[in-house]
Amino acid sequence: MTAAKLLLDCDPGLDDALAILLAHSDPALELVAVTTVGGNVVLENTTRNALELREHLGFTDVPVAAGAAGPLVREAKNAAEVHGPGGIGDVILPPATLPLDPRNAVDLIIETLRSAPGEIHLVATGPMTNIALAIRQEPRVAEWAASFVIMGGSFTRGNTTPAAEFNIYADPEAAAEVFRAGWQVVMVGLDLTLQALVDDAIKDRMLALGTLGRELVVPLATFWKDPQDPDWGGQAVHDVCAVAYISRPDLFTSVPARVEVETAGEWTAGMTVTDFRSSIPNALVPVKLDVAGFWDYVLGCYARAAS
Ligand code: BDR
Ligand code: CA
Repeated sequence: MTAAKLLLDCDPGLDDALAILLAHSDPALELVAVTTVGGNVVLENTTRNALELREHLGFTDVPVAAGAAGPLVREAKNAAEVHGPGGIGDVILPPATLPLDPRNAVDLIIETLRSAPGEIHLVATGPMTNIALAIRQEPRVAEWAASFVIMGGSFTRGNTTPAAEFNIYADPEAAAEVFRAGWQVVMVGLDLTLQALVDDAIKDRMLALGTLGRELVVPLATFWKDPQDPDWGGQAVHDVCAVAYISRPDLFTSVPARVEVETAGEWTAGMTVTDFRSSIPNALVPVKLDVAGFWDYVLGCYARAAS
């Protein structure tokens, strides 16, 4: 079986780092490039984290390129209160020695997808700024991607505001352009990702991975606690779900929908308005996760990296 090729645009980020680890450790996936965007923390830090993870995990032949520092039109927002000021919680990795790719992330996305039309899956787990800029510069990106999967949005709730999820809220104008680019957006949103929480039983299975589990996976997967949630069920690993979708779509129950992004609302900016009854869908929305199957799959891949 040939591995599915994957380009990951991300803002590491606790869960982005865990998504990178999954893309690296799943033998059914081939990570072909990592591009970074400012989001959870500033671009300098998301890029440093991606470079350090590349060397620490050992996928040193995969290019890493930096893209947009901030959104298309709005002021930059971050989620440092969730991910820590550096972006990956308490984890400290050895400084990277290998260089950043000299190209801008937008050029790397375009060139990589152009080189193999229909073969490379594009996954975005940060604000959609780089993707929107790539589409503006080369609309055929939407034809060339084998699929386009995002972690972002929701159809019932937000996490940054009552209406909006962080990745969409951070750059609603970019997200709106991306949803209208003529491709199918697989919207792995909060309604899906909040089904897979790192509870004590999952944490124990992560610890059983040994050094990788103790020193990287558990610190990334348990750093954040919501002080306002009395029913705290564990940290979510949102971005991991988006990468998992490429390899294991069978774990997801998905429904077509029309998704439009609110850019004008005073209280609803960044809301992904999802119409499951539309006759002109532009998105496929995973709504239900096989949670046990998901963890068996993810932890099985991590175990390979750990050994
Ligand atoms: C998303 O926002 C970020 O904080 C996470 O990395 C994830 O991509 C969840 O809303
Ligand atoms: Ca992210």
